[in-house]
Amino acid sequence: MTGEEAKKTIEDLIDKIDYFNNRYYQDSISEISDFEFDQLLKKLEELENQFPQYKYPYSPTLRVGGTITKSFNTVVHKNAMLSLSNTYSEEDLTEFDKRVAKGLEGQDYEYICELKFDGVAISLWYEDGILQRAVTRGDGTRGDDITSNAKTIKSIPLKLKNGHGMPREFEVRGEVFMTLSAFKNLNAEKERKGEAQLANPRNTTSGTLKMQDSSIVASRKLDCYLYYFQSEENVVSTHEEAINLIISAGFKVSPTYRKCQNIREVFAYIEEWEEKRFNLPLETDGIVIKVNSLDQQGQLGFTAKSPRWAIAYKYKAQSATTRLNGITFQVGRTGAITPVAELEPVLLAGTTVKRASLHNANEIERLGLKIGDFVIVEKGGEIIPKVTGVDIESRPDGLEDFKYIDTCPECGTPLIRKEGEAIHYCPNEESCPPQVLGRIEHFIQRKAMNIESLGPETIRGLLDHEKIKDMADLYTLTFDDLNGLEFKVYSEKKDDYSVRTLREKSARNIISSIEKSKQQPFQQLLFGLGIRYVGATVSEKLVEYYKDIRNLEKASFVELIEVPEIGERIAESLRLYFSDEKNIQLVERLIEYGLSTKSEESEENSGNNILKGKTFVISGVFEKVSRDDLKMLIKNNGGKVLSSISAKLDYLVAGDKMGPSKKEKAQKLNINTISEDDFLKMIDKND
Ligand code: IVH
Repeated sequence: MTGEEAKKTIEDLIDKIDYFNNRYYQDSISEISDFEFDQLLKKLEELENQFPQYKYPYSPTLRVGGTITKSFNTVVHKNAMLSLSNTYSEEDLTEFDKRVAKGLEGQDYEYICELKFDGVAISLWYEDGILQRAVTRGDGTRGDDITSNAKTIKSIPLKLKNGHGMPREFEVRGEVFMTLSAFKNLNAEKERKGEAQLANPRNTTSGTLKMQDSSIVASRKLDCYLYYFQSEENVVSTHEEAINLIISAGFKVSPTYRKCQNIREVFAYIEEWEEKRFNLPLETDGIVIKVNSLDQQGQLGFTAKSPRWAIAYKYKAQSATTRLNGITFQVGRTGAITPVAELEPVLLAGTTVKRASLHNANEIERLGLKIGDFVIVEKGGEIIPKVTGVDIESRPDGLEDFKYIDTCPECGTPLIRKEGEAIHYCPNEESCPPQVLGRIEHFIQRKAMNIESLGPETIRGLLDHEKIKDMADLYTLTFDDLNGLEFKVYSEKKDDYSVRTLREKSARNIISSIEKSKQQPFQQLLFGLGIRYVGATVSEKLVEYYKDIRNLEKASFVELIEVPEIGERIAESLRLYFSDEKNIQLVERLIEYGLSTKSEESEENSGNNILKGKTFVISGVFEKVSRDDLKMLIKNNGGKVLSSISAKLDYLVAGDKMGPSKKEKAQKLNINTISEDDFLKMIDKND
């Protein structure tokens, strides 16, 4: 292909990809399959590698990221990015409307109402239809140049559609955000990896935009709504026209805006979106009211901080004030202590709230809570309301400082608090009732051993009557242990209960479902053990890798973190669990009672121990199998993978690009160095 031909093909491909991209991200329509789309991108990428002189700054291949920015350049905004004045009351809005009317001296005027998106403001600068620069708001005068990160946001056009009708130079502004579902998925992934949870979509968006590696930004799936257009050339005369113009040029605009003829219509818009906004894919915290005519905007002008032609009305976070009657403490199955605010019942967003989470001791200290205080309770996106502040002015005289508990409210054991952690724990795992009960409840749930005929009350009855002490004891229960068992059923008030008796039929059901649970696959049993940070997905990964609980028991920290998707927090937690003799005993008993502690696959191939007792170090890059698969093959055949070469090592499996120092060390120690093929022959998988 000649350079000229390549140029033409590259340009055509970009147009094509941009077209499908727009259809997908602006109009939510897929005209071609993901596969076909990826093929186009791949072809473009290949040509760009071959003809780097035609790698355009607006190429869609930039969307996958890969640029590393060590520090972001500060740039001065072409037009200062002002903020809006905020109000929470309808009176303030009426005042605003009066000021507008007065400023416009009797002219007719109309408003455009938009939602106020809770994300990060961005300014995009285009020349000749091509995105030149993306800058954060910063202090309003200067912001950070985050162009390479912004280019990964698929709804931001890098090059406008042909015939876009835009002036040669212009600026658009909008809000970068993360959808609630993208945020949820990201946190779920963090949870699986045992990493800390992110606080909210807004902070996550802001953190993501400042990341150095744009390929991570690309993976975070940010989105962007535009709501502002500015140009030296007078191409539009109202905000509404500006919005329509940018929509037709391919920018993404939320369809939630509305033209209002007067302040009454603005109030109706506010009311309409008060609840409806919770159905939107992103967080919003109010509405923005803008005078529609750009000429009138000019007449009204700006104060030092904000335009006089616009205002933000913020919805009241759904909050209420009520008396804090006390603080109680819940003990979870892991021994974690959660303080709970006991409140004078109060109506909040349609429901009566009596209790709210206080998270931990630091939070109580931060809020400066005293029993008897009037506190502010808020309902955010979450279901459980939280205490967000104290109304200090209405604090009654003589309230005592609140002292956090230092012993477990359930068993009296002194609490511990690990370094760097905010949460207190009760260390009495063995006999602190809610911990024992919680662990068994976790063990019997559907996702684990699925013995749900056994309710929490029955378990408590069994514990009270000392028929069981732990989850393994369930497998020693007899019909007689259960038949006629008396157990307490508590009412909502904690110390009010009635006594019931377990009937014959239920007893039989329970026995049979306990028996049946022995068939539950190993990964569900592993999840059921309730090891911290070992959720259902992590269990699956561990079982896939280790096949047998005895292998997992023995795995070292270093080995564990080499397992795909297992991070340090999980590895540490597993080591802690299996270094406790009590837990080893528990596992031994579960094996003895016939539960599945081997993966289905390994049971099929059991006896395949060709590499038993042999140790391996893997180094370099391999052709036929990945490093992870290689490790898995060694383990599944009874061998052991080590991380460094020592005299005791049996084999070094050497791939391409192995470091020279490793090679030298292996030679010195006379270690058997084998190739990938040699290894595959050893286990007879060379085909
Ligand atoms: S217009 C000069 N419209 O709210 C007016 N801003 O406090 C420029 N925001 O920094 C802003 N949604 O980050 C406008 N529909 C919307 C908005 C919006 C969210 C943010 C924006 C701005 C802040 C103003």
